[in-house]
Amino acid sequence: MAVERTLSIIKPDGVRKKVIGEVIKRFESNNLKIVAAKLIHMSKEQAEGFYAVHKERPFFGEVIEFITSGPCMVMALEGEDAIKRNRALMGATNPAEAEAGTIRADFASDIQCNVVHGSDAPETAAFEIGHFFADNEIQNIIWD
Ligand code: CMP
Repeated sequence: MAVERTLSIIKPDGVRKKVIGEVIKRFESNNLKIVAAKLIHMSKEQAEGFYAVHKERPFFGEVIEFITSGPCMVMALEGEDAIKRNRALMGATNPAEAEAGTIRADFASDIQCNVVHGSDAPETAAFEIGHFFADNEIQNIIWD
């Protein structure tokens, strides 16, 4: 299995609910290492660039409004099969469909306020990490 990097965002609802620590604990205890992190309040332009793939979707305006409504914790996670494993920890986009014990089942309230975002493929992970982090903001030290 290849070592991958993936972008994780703890969205404004997660920050407001004070579950940053709970979410990070799940990553760290599942061997997803944080190699970059910052707390940011996204601008409209930054959010529209990030979610550009959803531009034509009916929920685009709401997603932009929500993600820019407060601070987010953005992180790059690294580990074996990180993209898929992060998504498994997150659970389904709609928390009503998320498996018990996943982050969204435990902390999310609806499809919009779903606490976390995770990249869905290697190409999107590279784009998304690059959208928020410069190369010198990503750590290359590998711990066991
Ligand atoms: P995320 O993984 O950040 O990617 C796009 C986001 O759009 C998604 O999580 C949801 O929070 C949000 N969203 C809002 N409405 C919908 C919808 N009807 N279908 C899918 N995603 C939605």
